Amino acid sequence: MSKDTLTITDNRTGEVYEVPIHYPTYPKYAAYIDAAAIRQIQVSDDDFGLLTYDPGYGNTASCKSSVAFVDGDKGILNYRGYGITDLATNCTFLEVAYLLLNGELPTESEMGDWRETVRMHTLLHENFKEMLKGFHYNAHPMGMLVGIVGALGTFYPNSKACFDEEVRCRHIMRIIAKIPTIAAYCYRHTRGLPYVEPDNSLTYSGNFLRMMFKHPGVKYEVDPAIVRALMVLFILHADHEQNCSTSVMRSVGSSLSDPYSSVAGAATALYGVRHGGANEAVIRMLTEIGTKDRIPEFIEGVKSGEKGRLMGFGHRVYKNFDPRATIIKNMASEVFEATGVNPLLEIALELERIALEDEYFISRKLYPNVDFYSGIIYQSIGFPTDMFPVLFAIGRAAGWLSQWQEMLNDPDFRIVRPRQAYIGYDKRDFVPMSERKPSGTEPACQGESSDD
Ligand code: CMC
Repeated sequence: MSKDTLTITDNRTGEVYEVPIHYPTYPKYAAYIDAAAIRQIQVSDDDFGLLTYDPGYGNTASCKSSVAFVDGDKGILNYRGYGITDLATNCTFLEVAYLLLNGELPTESEMGDWRETVRMHTLLHENFKEMLKGFHYNAHPMGMLVGIVGALGTFYPNSKACFDEEVRCRHIMRIIAKIPTIAAYCYRHTRGLPYVEPDNSLTYSGNFLRMMFKHPGVKYEVDPAIVRALMVLFILHADHEQNCSTSVMRSVGSSLSDPYSSVAGAATALYGVRHGGANEAVIRMLTEIGTKDRIPEFIEGVKSGEKGRLMGFGHRVYKNFDPRATIIKNMASEVFEATGVNPLLEIALELERIALEDEYFISRKLYPNVDFYSGIIYQSIGFPTDMFPVLFAIGRAAGWLSQWQEMLNDPDFRIVRPRQAYIGYDKRDFVPMSERKPSGTEPACQGESSDD
């Protein structure tokens, strides 16, 4: 008779253990066992018990979540059960943010209230303009964003009251409202341009574009196709279940830091080239390739390891196609009608075609991800490459905050504290400095003076 349990025989001892198998909601979603159930498997009473080893958490559920669902084999991404294509086609970004945070799509009046509240909080305290002056003119805007978002928490000491729902919601809304203003100010600092105050009569993405690109004394006008494209990109980036930066958001938040510090932490994780920094790296890669005839040589360099990875390709979860990449690729023509075709598009299309026919990429199930085409669109709109991860952060902030809120409401919530499989020395006797001998190996970390 079938039973929802797992029987484990420890061949070291002959002991047999029966461990319950759980289903999150429906049997069609991945079943799991409690990792703690393995701890009872011991060879003796003083044995620590068995651990699971899972570098990069490839097969570990770190939480129960109902925010987003990804099926990597089928190329499915749903937010709160709604397909990403439906949301990208029919919703505004703030509507999607509301859905992620509250679990349901807003009614007309709920949406009106939410939109108004966000619009009321787009302004930044004047002190931030002084703070931005402290950054070098060529500071990476993502580094500035991390600093300013973290500093914002110091203006709201009550934001640590994470379990007070009213307080928590106010700070969630503040972050979503202010992050485009912070992002635009970071950009304008690097260009030496005066800051543009928010215009709350505009949409979320329209207002952001104006704060970014309005020139003093010139009326700012933007093609609605561009406003819409940027909004769709924010929607596509809004959540992606337990990715690297969201896991950091949950980890930092699990110590009950304020949400500004947690979002700053998540943004630092997003910054890296294997995560949100990839779209920036794609543009550098396409620019380096330069012409279509150099693609085969570049692909060979990737395969031999000499050229690093093919940026914008591959995903931990998607092993078929990334539905976000498909939506972006289809949207590209609308944007290019407004901006003119980006010459890098031709190289990207050819690179994708060649890679998808190559055994190296086929056998490893490497397909274009969200970052492969998003950078080309951002560049066509006029964003400099170092702003790309910042744009990703604006969209993803809604997801980070939804996941953080879900964690705080979870009855299983505990501070994040993984275990390790220790591979170091057993206890050693201390050696005084006068008796130490060179180990014979080059120190991995040896300070040296340099200006870089
Ligand atoms: N180009 C060439 N080879 C690759 C690539 C790539 N982009 N991605 C993975 N591989 C190879 C890798 O070398 C390894 O080969 P082998 O088995 O011979 O050692 C194999 O594929 C498996 O790689 P992995 O590192 O175990 O895969 P992962 O699931 O840990 O990494 C990834 C996922 C996204 C970090 C990786 O595919 C990658 O570095 N891609 C390029 C960076 C990128 O585009 N990142 C954006 C991800 S989507 C948006 C986001 O999450 O922010």
